[in-house]
Order: sequence, then structure tokens, then C-alpha cells
Amino acid sequence: MKFEFTPIADALVTVVFDDEALKAGTLKIDFKADRPSLLLGMGKSEEAKNSAIRKAFFGVPGELLKYEVDSVRIEGLTDPAQLAAAYEGLWMGNYVFTRYKEDKQADKRLKVLALDEFDGLSEALTESQILMQSADFTRYLVNSRAIDLYPETLAQLAKDELEPLGVSVEVFGRDKSQALGLKAFLAVSEGSDKEPQVIIAKYNGAGDEPYAALIGKGLTYDSGGYGIKSTEGMGTMHSDMAGSATVLGAIRAIAEAKLKKNVYAVVLACENMIDGSAYKNGDIISSHLGKTIEINSTDAEGRLTLADALSYTEEALKPSFMIDVATLTGAVIIALGDVAAGAVGNDDQLMKDVLAAAELSDEPIWQLPNFDEYKEQYKSTFADLKNTGGRGAGSITAGLFLGEFVQATPWVHLDVAGVTYRADKAKPPHPAGASGFGVKALYQLIKHR
Ligand code: BES
Ligand code: MN
Ligand code: ZN
Repeated sequence: MKFEFTPIADALVTVVFDDEALKAGTLKIDFKADRPSLLLGMGKSEEAKNSAIRKAFFGVPGELLKYEVDSVRIEGLTDPAQLAAAYEGLWMGNYVFTRYKEDKQADKRLKVLALDEFDGLSEALTESQILMQSADFTRYLVNSRAIDLYPETLAQLAKDELEPLGVSVEVFGRDKSQALGLKAFLAVSEGSDKEPQVIIAKYNGAGDEPYAALIGKGLTYDSGGYGIKSTEGMGTMHSDMAGSATVLGAIRAIAEAKLKKNVYAVVLACENMIDGSAYKNGDIISSHLGKTIEINSTDAEGRLTLADALSYTEEALKPSFMIDVATLTGAVIIALGDVAAGAVGNDDQLMKDVLAAAELSDEPIWQLPNFDEYKEQYKSTFADLKNTGGRGAGSITAGLFLGEFVQATPWVHLDVAGVTYRADKAKPPHPAGASGFGVKALYQLIKHR
């Protein structure tokens, strides 16, 4: 959905503040008007946050479907950031994932947001458009099913999408991973007949300045392995690569916006499956860093792949800081539901910057404590570590486990298991299925750091 500066539009949405009868997010048809016109309630004007505007506009495209209009104009918002939020809401309300089911209403959907130009608006809307296009790429990857999206196809899609934007994408498989000693990653991938892939995307926008590294969990399917998941639990596990889709979406946005920054996106992609060569509960494996790990649960696989991703990235790419994004634990859904991502890190300033970027993006991220006491929970008698820390504080022990594989680089881990996938029902401002959560926050973090 593009934007244009033109007075001509098929339909009109008028934002109404301070009307008791028109609660925030409710739509009313304005029958007096000369064209399809909606009044959109927005609550009290002094409390109107951009997040409320984004959510309210999410409902507009569905309503306008009835009128088969191509373009819509907005009245009543005057701030570029407010209009950008409205645009994003319209965009996500208009989103349909069509890989497996034709959109029979495609020609009835909104095509254009029509506005009058004023200072700063073009910049704000252009940035939103880049972010939404990039989040659509993320959503496409996450919504695609494991039968189609596995490590090799993920790598190919990353190349196809990023290389035209000037991002170089290096991909290698099992042999080089073995040579590099990515032992924990390879242990997880062993039960699958899909070859594991390491994907390293590199965007150079700032000469020889240091690079930031965005690292994504890339489980293109998580069956649980021998610690097999229930039927229900397994049903959405094609989305267990959402972290990788998020970092690939973020570097896409950063490149398209031509930010003057240097950034890597790193993904160690594999499947967690079962066969005669799969790793087993009770195994003790090694890792890229050399620490040994007792496998309490083959279903705690993400932290194994990320352990190698973090220590390899730190050693080989020497980034100035690292952010990992992962659908790491069910426990984060117990703690924070489907509203906020959980964060664990080793550096106060970086954490502050991440939280500020989250605030700016309306993508809630909540810091979890990182007390040393929690580390007791994943001590092992016969190995350096074990890969689970028991039921209590499951998201914290998972995060701190990752921290054991970071030596001296500022790092923050984001657990997005609760926010990245909305199953069958939309949760405004996010469509059903993949939400695209995190693309904006990572972009803002890089932009402002
Ligand atoms: N991919 C899952 C986490 C997950 C659960 C993501 C639900 C999205 C929705 C992860 O690999 C996992 O299985 N974690 C285990 C860890 C446990 C065995 C310590 C979990 O949370 O149950
Ligand atoms: Mn798992
Ligand atoms: Zn997983």
C-alpha cells in the first residue's frame, strides 16, 4: 500500500478525539458525506498515543472492503509521527498472506493512502513504508511452512531479498560448520535430512567503522527431537525461525533506508528432528567455545544453536555489540503473555538503548533480572553446563545460558516466543500469523546508536 500526496481519494477517515460516544478504535459511518466516510474514535486527545492510532487504523481496511475503494484520505491528524502510525496500522490491517490461499478480495483492497504534503511527512511515511515492507518479508518467512521453508530455502530467500539492496550474503553448510567447530549447532541439526546452513548478511553503510551484529534463532522446524512436543505444541513450530526472519527483516530495512551504519545479520539455520542419528537426552556435547553441555532436553535446542552463533560471531566478526532474537522459551509466554518480549543482557547501556528503541517503535520489551544466583540452576555434574535450568525462571536461565557463550562483547537477548506469532487471530496492530514484531525496534536501535 503506497502513499501519495494528492487531494483525490475515494474514501475518507476522520479521526475524532474527545467524543464520549465514540470510544477509541470504534468506527462509525458518516451518512451525510459524498463518498464512503468513516469516523474513527480515538479517545482523549491528550492521551492519544501513536500506539492507539496504529491499533485503531488496523480496523479500517476491513471496514472499507465493503465499499471497494482504492484510496483513502485521513482528516484530523496533523503530526508526521501520528500519520506514520496511521499508515502502519492501515498497512497491517490490509496484510494478507497469500502463499497458500488466494486473496479473492485482492482487487477490493486499499491501494493508496492520499494526503496533503507538509514538512516532515514524506520522510516519516517513507520510513514507515520501508519498515512495513521489511516486516512483510519477515512475515512471509515466518508464515511459510517447514515443508517449503527449510535452511537452504531460507538462505536463498535471504539472498534474493537482500542482495539487490546492496547487502552481501554469505552462506555455508555442514562441512564448513564442522571445520569451524560449530558443534552444538550441528548436534541439533543431526536428526534432520535438511542440511544446516549458516547465513551471514553484511551491510556496509559506514566505511570501516565497527559492525553491530543481529543474531536470529533459525529453527525452521522444532519438533522437540526425542523430547518430542505435543501435537498442539508442534503445530506452530514452523515459526521457530522468527528470530532469524526478524534480523533479516531488520537488515533489509537498514539497507533500504541507507542508514550510515555497519551491520551483520547472522543466522544458524537447522531443523530439530528425530532419526537414528539425532542427538539424545543425556548426551554430552561440545560447542564452538569449547564448553561441554549436558542435554537435559533435546527440546531446549535454540540455546544450543545460539550459543554457537554468539561465540562464533564474537570471535570471527568482532562486533561492537550483539543482539540475539529468539523464540526461546514457552516460559516467556507465562511471564509476559503475547504483549511484550523478554530481555536479558550483560550491559546496562545497551539494555537501556534497546528499551528506548522498543518504546519508540511501540514494540514492548521488558527487562528480566540477570542475578548470578540463577546460574546455579544450569550447573551440571559431568559437563560444564546443562541445557535446561528447571521450571523456575525458565526465560532467565535460558538467557543467562546464552550469556555463558559471550566473552567480552555487550549483548542483549530478546525472547520473542510470545509476541512473534498470533496463530489464527489478529491482535491489532498485528495481523493473524506472523506479527513482524522486532523489525522496527532493531532498526531504531541501529539508527540511534
Ligand atoms: N521453540 C521453543 C519455545 C517456544 C514455545 C516458542 C512455544 C514458541 C511457542 C523452544 O525450543 C522450546 O522448546 N523451549 C522449551 C525449553 C524447555 C525444554 C527448557 C520450552 O519452553 O518448553
Ligand atoms: Mn524446542
Ligand atoms: Zn525451539
